[in-house]
Amino acid sequence: MANLHGEVYYPPEEVVARAHVQDWEKLLEEAAADPVAFWEARAKELVDWFEPWERAFDDSNAPFYKWFIGAKTNIVHNALDRHITTWRRNKLAYIWEGEDGTRRTMSYYRLWREVNRFAAILKSMGVEKGDRVTIYMGRLPELPIAMLATAKIGAIHSVVYGGFSVEALAERIEDAQSRVLITADGGFMRGKIVPLKEIADEAVRRSPVVEHMVVVRRTGHEVNMEVGRDYWYHELCQLPVANGTVETEVMDAEDPLFILYTSGTTGKPKGVLHTHGGYQVGIATTLKYAFDLKDEDRWWCAADPGWITGHSYIVYGPLILGATSFIYEGAPNYPYPDRWWRMIEEYGITILYTAPTAIRGLMRFGNAWVNRHDLSSLRLLGTVGEPINPEAWRWYYEVVGKERCPIIDTWWQTETGHFMITPLPVTPLKPGSATKPFPGILAEVVDEEGNPVEPGVEGNLVIKHAWPGMLRTIYGDPERYKEQYWSKYAKQGYYLTGDSARKDEDGYFWIIGRVDDVIKVAGYRLGTAEIESALVSHPAVSEAAAIGVPDELKGNVIHTFVILREGFTPSPELEEELKQHVRHEMGPIAVPAKINFVESLPKTRSGKIMRRVLKARTLGLPEGDLSTLED
Ligand code: WT7
Repeated sequence: MANLHGEVYYPPEEVVARAHVQDWEKLLEEAAADPVAFWEARAKELVDWFEPWERAFDDSNAPFYKWFIGAKTNIVHNALDRHITTWRRNKLAYIWEGEDGTRRTMSYYRLWREVNRFAAILKSMGVEKGDRVTIYMGRLPELPIAMLATAKIGAIHSVVYGGFSVEALAERIEDAQSRVLITADGGFMRGKIVPLKEIADEAVRRSPVVEHMVVVRRTGHEVNMEVGRDYWYHELCQLPVANGTVETEVMDAEDPLFILYTSGTTGKPKGVLHTHGGYQVGIATTLKYAFDLKDEDRWWCAADPGWITGHSYIVYGPLILGATSFIYEGAPNYPYPDRWWRMIEEYGITILYTAPTAIRGLMRFGNAWVNRHDLSSLRLLGTVGEPINPEAWRWYYEVVGKERCPIIDTWWQTETGHFMITPLPVTPLKPGSATKPFPGILAEVVDEEGNPVEPGVEGNLVIKHAWPGMLRTIYGDPERYKEQYWSKYAKQGYYLTGDSARKDEDGYFWIIGRVDDVIKVAGYRLGTAEIESALVSHPAVSEAAAIGVPDELKGNVIHTFVILREGFTPSPELEEELKQHVRHEMGPIAVPAKINFVESLPKTRSGKIMRRVLKARTLGLPEGDLSTLED
């Protein structure tokens, strides 16, 4: 176990030569000795503050930890305003390519102008500090613009991934009580139009709190526009009110910046809340150290801005560091499987950060698609979202990176805000391991009592000390925050990640996967309960259970077990209808690969479905302890 596959990859000399951090082990030691001092130094070095903090860290009301107490700031000042007075005003902030080949570029100055314009529009709609604004669109430049404009005026954004559908959007609007929704007419995906406006209309019918909808025109197909409620973004931009500049609101370091919903163990998604102060320090530090981002880089984080990866490493992180980012709208294999490689060559991308599932998907098409292109601009590669299998790792390393580019395997979560376990460019790599915790992060693998386990033994992954970019609460539900993350190891004060892991003899971490009712499908995080409640909302379904089943391409796929109501009989047509129903309610990522019609479900005496029994049966594994099984 010490070294799972007997391989260690050492970084090439030219990578080491330019790396920001040279002595990894030494930095780890220093930062571990005093994490607060480490983060405090980064807070001074990497971001500006309107007013300094009185204390860097406060744990007097644990687990409601605070960072940079009393400091005044606004993340948009650091991401945008401060660059406008330097040479960076003319530097490209974003290079964008639409799936249909449309190209747009945006300098820092231009982005700043657009953000001012959008901020003025939001203000004119009555959006004030602390109000929630829901944003639902595809990968367009207007997505970061809308996020930045919201944050600039001190409002809180809640971005809902454009791949989600009606019910998922409706319940997120409802939970956040957003009076404003920003969307687009549609988005392009695999040459087809995703009818975003239509979905938004239906979601707002279910959650009628929305008073105004701003609609970005992307596809140009005809959509319903409700007079007095819906406005075209490009028309609003023409209004006199959309001119001039809007003052960046002075925020307290602990004021909320955004809510991002993620799946947990109940059907109701959790609104993970992040703040202005600590979050900006965490993302800027991790991006700079782990990906060694420099002014001359062209950074491509291929995630969606609608996920935490995009919030931290497409929008705020790269902008704070003044970097140039590339954003691509569409599918990786459209119109041909070399689309990504063509764009890397075309734009001279230097760092690519993506998910193992995307790597496996592209690997399937064979090496010729990659080799057709000059990828010599690449110097670092990254992955996130799920464990990367050694085969995909090696393909990424050899075929894409030509054995020149270290692979930065970053473990983190929506809740953590930024990378938590990750190599730096100088770190010796073992394929499949995210290596060691980032400097200033104290992680451990522990048993049920909270004691560290021996090397090679599986246990719960915990974080032992608070960190600046951590979530502060679950929006509107502080009890759930305490219960979910801090109750299991309350005595020790450890944060429970929900993942299991092993550490090897060298102290390298090997993430195994979720141990709760969360399924990772193609890197997307879904709750079993959400899928189940989507199924049960169909008139034919009386009860449902969902499990994750390992899959070579997607990491996991969803299998469901469904008990039908009286008067309905199993059929392939009904299976298809139920899949379509889940697609309509939740979105394509939640569609089960398989629906099994069953007569009963294994339950505990208290009526909880024992998904682990279903999983064991499906995979032909031992069923484990059945003492709580009712029947
Ligand atoms: C879960 C968090 C953080 C951005 C994307 C996912 C899994 C994440 C890795 C990795 C193994 C990983 C974990 C974690 N995960 N990165 N490098 N190796 N597993 O954010 O949707 O909040 O999911 O993703 O299971 O708990 P998320």
